[in-house]
Amino acid sequence: MDYYSVLGPLLRLLDPETAHGLAIKALKSDWVPRPAPYEVSILGTKVWNREFANPIGLAAGFDKNAEAVNGMLAQGFGFVEAGTVTARPQSGNPRPRLFRLKKDMAIINRIGFNSEGAHAVAGRLRGRQHVGVVGINLGKNKDSRDIASDYVEGVRVLAPFADYMVLNVSSPNTPGLRKLQSREHLADLLAAVKAALAETALEQSPPLLLKIAPDLTEGDKGDIAEISLGVGIDGLIATNTTVERPASLADAHRVEAGGLSGPPLMVPSTQVLGEMYRLTNGELPIIGCGGIQSGADAYAKIRAGASLVQLYSALVYHGPDLVNRIKRQLTELLKADGFTNVAEAVGADHR
Ligand SMILES: Cc1cc2nc3c(=O)[nH]c(=O)nc-3n(C[C@H](O)[C@H](O)[C@H](O)COP(=O)(O)O)c2cc1C
Repeated sequence: MDYYSVLGPLLRLLDPETAHGLAIKALKSDWVPRPAPYEVSILGTKVWNREFANPIGLAAGFDKNAEAVNGMLAQGFGFVEAGTVTARPQSGNPRPRLFRLKKDMAIINRIGFNSEGAHAVAGRLRGRQHVGVVGINLGKNKDSRDIASDYVEGVRVLAPFADYMVLNVSSPNTPGLRKLQSREHLADLLAAVKAALAETALEQSPPLLLKIAPDLTEGDKGDIAEISLGVGIDGLIATNTTVERPASLADAHRVEAGGLSGPPLMVPSTQVLGEMYRLTNGELPIIGCGGIQSGADAYAKIRAGASLVQLYSALVYHGPDLVNRIKRQLTELLKADGFTNVAEAVGADHR
């Protein structure tokens, strides 16, 4: 029996944000038992010229201020995405703003970017020993008017510490954020951020990714694909949480406002991933995210076009042992279909 089968139910008795705060504290102070390493060469993969020991990542939102990056890498993740980080500190929306839909093993959140701000996060990462792949996810402050300037500030301050950077234009909890996905705004935003990245004069600029919503229109998806290829963005993350409420939801919390994540998001999110892979002709690496809770889910995303995958919600219900379980299951699935590495399986459903 793993320790989380005892601890998990106790943590789930607490208010979700209190439980989350405790988890971050424990990871920060290295109290959380580390699993025996499970790294097999079939899971190793290279994306953006960076080596990933395995393709399973921690999605943004768990470690908003980069406090537990090393602790989560030690749990077996192939990469960890910190953030969303806003340019200036802000506290987010009033509580309660995080809800467990236990019957659906899902989550609804309307946290709205609680962030210590870019400079505080940079200060924390500056002293960190560089092990493992760490992405940094950027957002805008709620009260900022100039659309691009917060992202530009985030890039200037945090690019030196990032193995990749993400422009989060898809959280449903910051008014006006998702409109940045429209043709009207996206090209300008990307041009401004790319210029800021060039100005940092780093020896190696981190790849720039765009994180998209699962709730886009067909027109939006086509525009995002065209602009991403045109401007020369390096990858996509598909997807963030959804504002839809599938009819299958059973938990009473389904009426809460915010973004829904976890298993009910798996199918719609993977559909968007597959569409974006097709619309970008398989030329852009995509991180598949949304509803993963098993090796089969991770494999489905890879076959639909994901070069890497990420998860968050399933950790709340299954605990950190899940990471190695997914890695074992994914290894078996790849082998069963005759693949010798992850890259060979990427987009297999489209061939
Ligand atoms: C509590 C919570 C907070 C989140 N915060 C962020 C965030 O700050 N930035 C972001 O890009 N995504 C955020 N997300 C979305 C996740 O990164 C992910 O895209 C989404 O939850 C789908 O994956 P999952 O079903 O594995 O959770 C958050 C998700 C949850 C559950």
